[in-house]
Amino acid sequence: MRIDIVSLFPEMFNGPFGHSIIKRATDAGILTIGVVNPRDFALDKHHIVDDTPFGGGSGMVMKVDPVCRAVESVSAVPNVRRRIILMCPGGQQFTQAKARELAEYDQLILVAGHYEGMDERVRTYVVDEAMSIGDYVLTGGELPAMVIVDAVARMLPGVLGANDAAIQDSFYSGLLEYPQYTRPREFRGWEVPEVLVSGDHAKIARWRRKESLKNTLNRRPDLLESANLSPEDAKLLREIQEEQGDS
Ligand code: ADE
Repeated sequence: MRIDIVSLFPEMFNGPFGHSIIKRATDAGILTIGVVNPRDFALDKHHIVDDTPFGGGSGMVMKVDPVCRAVESVSAVPNVRRRIILMCPGGQQFTQAKARELAEYDQLILVAGHYEGMDERVRTYVVDEAMSIGDYVLTGGELPAMVIVDAVARMLPGVLGANDAAIQDSFYSGLLEYPQYTRPREFRGWEVPEVLVSGDHAKIARWRRKESLKNTLNRRPDLLESANLSPEDAKLLREIQEEQGDS
């Protein structure tokens, strides 16, 4: 997959993509990340990328023409399954399901806005959709773009390794994760659940499923409504509710 980011601050991306799993994915050629700066596509002498709003008002608005040309500079190749997305607090909410969906494309172009706003024609004519990473307003679309790159990259085959830990992850199966432990078995009197060192794999699997259901019930009960639960899950849930004294 190829991901291009359109941003006035390309240097912001050097850190986050230069480490750990994303770096390995790019080193392995599974993912290619590029950043283009709309400033390089402003045709005037001073490379101006923002201007005052038509109709008056305070603040500056990012101009449509440099952004549009920047997007075009990375979308010229034909017959590419491509999605162009504007980072915007008023966009559709980004979710794990969306990350999985976006991982199917050959190319993503993420447009990061800055200043007080973006000329609406970017949203209307240049991008396919607008996306928000949550109901809060950040100073720009760079952090949201990083979030989307990270979440999508780990969905790409080969990025997380052979046993694809993503499948076990929170949200992937519609439930929160079960708790994990590693050595030492005891630290300051804090012990690891006995079942995990029992060697009984069936018992461990049942315990993990039950803890996953318990975490979801107690922390994100809304997720249970759309999770795919088996009759065994329903039984475990009843057990949990009895143990907790829930009705
Ligand atoms: N730009 C500013 N805030 C944002 C958010 N929450 N999501 C996406 N883009 C943004």
